[in-house]
Amino acid sequence: MPREARAIAHPNIALIKYWGKRDIPLNLPAVSSLSVTLDTFTTDTHVVWDSPSDEVIVNDVILTGKAASRVHRFLDLVGGPDRPKCRVVSHNNFPTAAGLASSASAFSALALATSAAANASLDPIDLSRLARQGSGSASRSIWGGWVRWDKGAEADGRDSHGVPVAARDYWDLSVVVAVVGSGPKPIGSTAGMVRTQQTCPLYPGWVDSAEADVREAEEALHARDLDRLGAAMERSTYKMHATMIATWPPVRYWRPRTLMVLEAIEKLRGQGISAWSTMDAGPNVKVLCGRADVPRVEAAIAETGVEARALGIGEGARLV
Ligand code: PMV
Repeated sequence: MPREARAIAHPNIALIKYWGKRDIPLNLPAVSSLSVTLDTFTTDTHVVWDSPSDEVIVNDVILTGKAASRVHRFLDLVGGPDRPKCRVVSHNNFPTAAGLASSASAFSALALATSAAANASLDPIDLSRLARQGSGSASRSIWGGWVRWDKGAEADGRDSHGVPVAARDYWDLSVVVAVVGSGPKPIGSTAGMVRTQQTCPLYPGWVDSAEADVREAEEALHARDLDRLGAAMERSTYKMHATMIATWPPVRYWRPRTLMVLEAIEKLRGQGISAWSTMDAGPNVKVLCGRADVPRVEAAIAETGVEARALGIGEGARLV
């Protein structure tokens, strides 16, 4: 008897970044991280458990090769190697694989929909551990609001999962996404991390300073101090990108317009606006600011010729 479930989830943006793994198959991170879940951008995933064949369709395209195997292996985590065949149909309403954390929303929605369709009763912590094995950052999208992902110390990863730190309505901030490019990224995050760990002489410094960065950002969050939180976020961003750029061959996601947006936001700060930039494994810039400052931030981004999308803080993954 086929069973089915549908879940939606949102991407999250890391303020304190995850870059580097202590275990590749289990996606155990070398550093802890802290994120905020976004609203509006959504992955909507429908899973049929016990279907005539294994089939994965993302944004109306049937996945094949490595991309399909990645999803099949994830389904095995829930149902074991003898699981029934499954049909997975997923839609993103935002650009896939462009540093907008589509893998975070994808694997958190898939974790929830699959476990519901398979009748596996998982609590949010279990779901976060499961989602993590699909994509590290997905461990954080199980919850809305502000979420920390602890790197943990156990070899099996049981202590490496998301922890909700503050609810969605705790602080009414906005994230303005400057969409510099929406094509697929030049190098995937796992390959980029492995290359960084293997060849970047700055990498040990990144790992050594990361836990203090998480503590600093959490303190700023608890104090609702945007200047302090934004500065911690930018520092973590530049440190992460410094390790990427000092990797050989370099892992460079920035485009010329990335820099133009960064300069525009710095200029705004010079005018007394508390707006702070971050970038992930892609050319886009995300700007954290107060809701009242969104029009100023949007206008500054528009002046660089880049499209801006203002988002709020979103909910966790849920069944629909
Ligand atoms: O979850 P992944 O494997 O897509 O890695 C995400 C890495 C960054 O987005 C660059 C940083 C982060 O913490 O989200």
